[in-house]
Amino acid sequence: MRRPLPVVGDLLAFQSDRLRFVTSMHRDQGDVARFRLGPFPVWQLAHPDLVRQVLVTDAAGFRKGMVLQRARVVLGDGLLTAEGDVHRHHRDLVQPAFHSRRIAGYASVMIDRASGVSSSWPAREPLDVHAATVRMTLETAGTTLLGTSVDVGAVEGALADLLSAYKLAFLPFSERLQGLPVGPMRRLQRGRRQLHGLVDSVVVERATSGHDGGDLLSALVLGIERLSDEELRDEATTLLLAGHETTANTLAFALHLLAVHPSVQASVQDEVDAVGVPGPSDVDRLPLCRAVVSEALRLYPPSWMMGRQALVEHPVGDHLIEPGDLVVLPQWVVHHDPRWWPQPFSFDPSRWLDGGGAAGRDRPRWAFFPFGAGLRRCIGESFAWTEAVLGLATVVRRWRLRPVPGRPLRLDPLITLRPRGGLWLIPEPR
Ligand code: HEM
Repeated sequence: MRRPLPVVGDLLAFQSDRLRFVTSMHRDQGDVARFRLGPFPVWQLAHPDLVRQVLVTDAAGFRKGMVLQRARVVLGDGLLTAEGDVHRHHRDLVQPAFHSRRIAGYASVMIDRASGVSSSWPAREPLDVHAATVRMTLETAGTTLLGTSVDVGAVEGALADLLSAYKLAFLPFSERLQGLPVGPMRRLQRGRRQLHGLVDSVVVERATSGHDGGDLLSALVLGIERLSDEELRDEATTLLLAGHETTANTLAFALHLLAVHPSVQASVQDEVDAVGVPGPSDVDRLPLCRAVVSEALRLYPPSWMMGRQALVEHPVGDHLIEPGDLVVLPQWVVHHDPRWWPQPFSFDPSRWLDGGGAAGRDRPRWAFFPFGAGLRRCIGESFAWTEAVLGLATVVRRWRLRPVPGRPLRLDPLITLRPRGGLWLIPEPR
């Protein structure tokens, strides 16, 4: 039974089990649910038509939600957190780096890193596959986006510091709390310093050398329209963070799903064996791998809940969202809704084959929105698909994965949905 408290509202229930909380709001109140996180009234909208309304048709009437507003302390005016004209301008500058031709060029790095990291796995020993996929995607992001090899440990440490402040985003006066030299705030500042130091040195090196390595940062540093050093840092930090963890989680979840469904794993291996050593142009020859990644994104969406804050009034059915109210769009709920996904918790890649894609079989288009929608849709979507499909194929070609008895998957829904305490599997050579 829900009992919102004075001052904090539903914050304690939300923080104690976020997935259960958003699910129970939908069960108890339906597609439009209302609750309160700290001082903020929140509307949870969990119908594909409402997703479209907020992210596409009425998008101009919203800004980013509380978590990404607070993330500006680290990401500044990078693409993920910028608003309005600054966002539009930066998106135009960055977009060419995500052109399909460029992604095809990055694909060989993706395969090389997936192969390099997975080739040294110890056989028949429990392995934290999530740590391994993070290494793959971070090394890929470093090379393709920044043109450098990044210190994986340093970035992961900084990210852990930043995530430790996530839980405070909804507290009253959280903006002011961010400046305090205590606990999580100190870690937030430390993570920020570490990341900015790392990125600044790459930016300075590129600007002084004038060397064009074909990576995104070179294009931004050496382009006709030069961004300021601060803008470059914001963009590079954003791409480094947004461009690795989500894909790493997707790939780890996909490998977990194969490990617990050995017959699907065998079919995926047949598909990959027919292709041979996966190459940059093989994504389209791996439809089952793609279907497995789709199911991973549906069942375990790395962006499990998106947030917005209303700038103007929005009528929603019989309700009125007021300026300042928060809106959340929970992929976790919509992707598990039996109205759109029969047996929603079952892993069934065949949903995605033979014309059954995102909007297939009478399913509304926005019943699946792992990459958001509208003008703020993920700029790295094709990058992520390519990396996840080729990474999956590269790993399963070499290894058969088994679950570790007594180590079930546990979920940790922070800014992204990630495995809690790692994702442990046993790789066996094929
Ligand atoms: C499976 C992997 C990924 C998932 C699930 C994912 C998810 C998302 C989502 C849901 C958004 C929209 C956020 C919002 O509207 O509030 C977003 C935006 C963004 N993503 Fe991704 N992402 C992934 C991979 C990537 C990659 C590989 C990159 C870069 C290489 C990237 C860079 C970005 C950027 C820069 C934005 C902000 C775009 C804008 O507002 O113009 N993402 N992502």
